[in-house]
Order: sequence, then C-alpha cells, then structure tokens
Amino acid sequence: MSKPSILVIDDEESITSTIATFLRAKGYDLTVANDGEDGLQSVRDGGHGIIVSDIYIDRVTGLDVLDQVRRLGLDAVVILMTARGSVRTTVEAEMGGAFDYIAKPFEMRDLLSVIERAEAYLTSSEAPSELETGTEGFGNMIGFSRPMVDVYKRIARAARSDETVLIIGETGVGKELVARAIHDHGARAKAPFVPVDSGAVTGSLWESEIFGSIRGAFTGADRDRQGIIDSARGGSVFFDEIGETPLEVQPKLLRLLQEKEYRPVGSGMPKKADVRIIAATNRSLETMVRENKFREDLFYRLNVLRIDVPPLRERRSDIPFLVKRFLGEATVAGQRRVWFSPEAEHLLNQFDWPGNVRQLRSTIQRVVALAAVGQVSEETLRSFLIDPLAEEEGEPASELSEVERRQILRVLRETGGNKTKAAEILGIQRRTLYKKLARLEGQRDAETEDRG
Ligand SMILES: Nc1ncnc2c1ncn2[C@@H]1O[C@H](COP(=O)(O)OP(=O)(O)OP(=O)(O)O)[C@@H](O)[C@H]1O
Ligand SMILES: [Mg+2]
Repeated sequence: MSKPSILVIDDEESITSTIATFLRAKGYDLTVANDGEDGLQSVRDGGHGIIVSDIYIDRVTGLDVLDQVRRLGLDAVVILMTARGSVRTTVEAEMGGAFDYIAKPFEMRDLLSVIERAEAYLTSSEAPSELETGTEGFGNMIGFSRPMVDVYKRIARAARSDETVLIIGETGVGKELVARAIHDHGARAKAPFVPVDSGAVTGSLWESEIFGSIRGAFTGADRDRQGIIDSARGGSVFFDEIGETPLEVQPKLLRLLQEKEYRPVGSGMPKKADVRIIAATNRSLETMVRENKFREDLFYRLNVLRIDVPPLRERRSDIPFLVKRFLGEATVAGQRRVWFSPEAEHLLNQFDWPGNVRQLRSTIQRVVALAAVGQVSEETLRSFLIDPLAEEEGEPASELSEVERRQILRVLRETGGNKTKAAEILGIQRRTLYKKLARLEGQRDAETEDRG
C-alpha cells in the first residue's frame, strides 16, 4: 500500500520545513501550512491520512483541527505537537480524539515512530472494536481457571441451601459478584438482594438501620421505620466487610443468624427474619478473633459455608478473558479502537495485580480513555500501572510521568474533585494520591507553561 499523505501545520517555518524535508526523504507525500487558517483549509480539502499539527498556531488551535476532522467525518488521524508542561491542553487533546501527541522538542525519529504507528492504525483491517462479549464463566463472572471452577461449584452448592455463607478474598477479587451469583441461582432470586456496608454505620445506628425501629423508640421517631431485614424480606442480605461490624452489635447479629430473630429498636417483641445472610471480608477474621476484635462464636456461626475467592495472580489463565471483556466494555462506551501489543499482553498476564480484578478493570478503562488510539505498547501500559503499594515512606520522590499526571487530573475531573473516589478509581490509597498531587503541584510550578 502506498504511504499516506501527510499534512503538517505549524506557524514556525523552521519546524515545518525540517519535518517536510525529513518525511519527504522517507517517501511521504507532504503538504505544509504555516498558519492556522491555511491549515484548516487544507484539512477541509481532505485527502490527508495523517495530520501533524501544533497545538497553538496563532488563533487556531490543534483542538480546532481535531474538531474539524471530526465534524467532516474525515478518515484522518491527528498527531499533536505540544509544549512540555501544557497538561491541561494535552488532556483536552486526548479527549478530543487525538491519535497521539508528541512533546516539543522532539527527534525526527520519534516523530517517525508515531507516524508509523498511525499508518499501521490506518491500514489495520481487523480493528478489534466488535469484540464479542459472550459469557465465558458463570453468571456475570468471567474465567474458567481451575480455582474459579471450584468457586462456581461452591456457589452452586450454596445456592441450593439457605445457610449463611462467608466469602473470603482479597480486595477486588469479585466477592460481591459471588454473593449476587449465590442469590441469583437460589430459591430467593426473585426477592431483593440488599448489600450492607458493615463498617459504614456505627453502633446505635447499626441496630435501627438493620433491624428498623418503632414509633417513639427515640426522640424524633414519629413512626415505625423499616430496617434492612424488613426490606429484604424473602431475599438476601449481603453484609460486606463483615469484619467491620461494631463489637457491641455483634451479639445481635449472632442472634439473627442463630435464631433468625431480631428486635426493632424500641420494641419488646422479637420478629422472625425471612432473609438469607451472605457475608464477605478481605480481612482475616481468625486474626481478628485472636485480637478480640471479632467474636469467636459469631465467626464460627458465619464460617459454615465458606467460599475462598483466589487472588487474580493465582489464576492467570483468566486474565486474557477478563481483558477481552473489559476492553470490549470500555471500547463500546468510549467508541475508541484500542488493542494491546503482544508485549503489552504479556505484561497484563504477568503483572501481580495487587488490586485484583478491580484493578485490572480500572486500568483497562483508563488506558482506553486516555491512551492514544490504536495499539497500546508495553511501555504505555506500564505507565498506567500505578503501583498501589509504592510511594510509601522512604521512596525517593520521582517525577510523575506525563501519562500519570493526565490520568490523575482526568479522574479528578470526572469525580468532581472527590479524592476518595479518585483514589479508588485509580486503584491507589488516598494517602498516595495526596502525595502525588503535592508532587504534581511542585512540578507545575517548576515548569513554565510556555505556549510554543
Ligand atoms: N470474575 C469476574 N468477571 C468479571 N468481572 C469481575 C470478576 N471478578 C470481579 N469482577 C469485577 O471487578 C470489580 C470488583 O469486584 P467486586 O466488587 O465483586 O470485588 P470485591 O471482592 O467485593 O472487592 P472489595 O473487597 O474491594 O469490596 C467489579 O467491577 C466486578 O464486576
Ligand atoms: Mg466488595
């Protein structure tokens, strides 16, 4: 196939002429525009497979170029040249659908490698955008590695009984999915599945939240209030992070499990509970029992039907299927064509995933949202793997990579500045996010936001 025609837009003639000489020598057909209006006109004229544009050309910007391409529905990819430090505009450029960007000053061979990737993208016939997202697992769960098949068997067994189930596993392994699968495959499937964040409500509130309260139970209680046990009637209650249950209410929870009875706050009359209890934890309840933070009798009562969900690194054969699913989801939502190079795929399969499936999913979502379209290299992928455990005390303060900054800023914007949420989406601790932000501020001050 012949080489695509390239349009170069920049108001600095020294730059356009250097690029033109270099690329013509490589056999490309070149068009040059030295001001914004000319540039936009050449875009409208069409026929260019690749457009290399500066991000600030007099009054016209690279974003206008992107906009024009999109509006005319042109089959062209746009590569933007940016000044270092212009974080905000590069974020916008990514959002506007730039194929990639290249920071000035750059070497000609760097530009060539971006152009070669753009060419590969333009000629790739099998763009994996129509990934089939059929089920390859059990219910909503993907993966059929040995340990997961074992989990599915236990889910099926738990679904046939009405016994309390305890689900144990590291953060992000899919404990809530397991709980829902148990509910969905059981006799209570038509009734509600109600999750409870066990640590979110404190002692006295816990009781009224879970068991409800009757009129006059406390000041302001002007009517009977339903608790979660009432609203889940006939269904299942999922006590997430059961280890966080306040010690003082643990006897009441035990009574609920043993006698299937509970008492709304302010009431002398016990009520019969018609719910199935499913609990989950990522902490070792055994250890908590030893430290007197969790009642031993409650632990034994919970530990009847137990399902251990293995961490992702112990079932790596599931990774390619999960990747395929998550890539499919993210691509459909974002309308961007992204796939991983063989080396990047290898990294996906070998990485340790301390945040397990949740981290894998959020990493892929971020890559799709923020990486350039087309093939994602190992290097790019690596920059998206924010180590949730790194940057603890004693770590030397390294510079944040451009990609990392963009990710953090983007996620912060999406969460409206909510740092707790942002940290969760990024898969890092909030404390780590604060440190990174502090460093980002420092970096920004050090750099002049030059517009070139
Ligand atoms: N086997 C799987 N197939 C598809 N998606 C999965 C699978 N396991 C987990 N996920 C996805 O990963 C994310 C985390 O899953 P989930 O919330 O169930 O984990 P968890 O163990 O409850 O985590 P935490 O302990 O942090 O609450 C969810 O988006 C879920 O849909
Ligand atoms: Mg959970």
